[in-house]
Amino acid sequence: MTFVVLDNCIKCKYTDCVEVCPVDCFYEGVNMLVIHPDECIDCGVCEPECPAQAIKPDSAKNLGIFPKLNADMAQIWPNLAFKRKALPEAQEFDGKKDKYEAFFSAEPGEGGAKGAKPKKEKKGE
Ligand code: SF4
Ligand code: F3S
Repeated sequence: MTFVVLDNCIKCKYTDCVEVCPVDCFYEGVNMLVIHPDECIDCGVCEPECPAQAIKPDSAKNLGIFPKLNADMAQIWPNLAFKRKALPEAQEFDGKKDKYEAFFSAEPGEGGAKGAKPKKEKKGE
């Protein structure tokens, strides 16, 4: 079993989930994260941390394409192991329906190891 990131992460990407994951198994696309199903240890601590309620166990019903999407994109996108600022449009898009169809992008995010600073958030560059 694993946990799965769902539609409502898209265009929000709050990243609170990353901060609590004990095995750093989140991978970053340009506007959402996914969980690597082979690395997730099924601890469940990320689920209540997501402000967008976008994480569910894969035993939940009606997850649609998202289990496969998480597995596929985790092979391609870079690992993200620190919390970064939510996307600027996060509040506006939180709760909108069917974001995958309108906004999903396969473009990778920046990613980053624990302790690293996000490039765009560094001062003086
Ligand atoms: Fe990480 Fe645990 Fe969430 Fe899996 S369930 S992604 S191991 S915090
Ligand atoms: Fe996405 Fe929720 Fe994490 S919005 S980045 S799954 S905290």
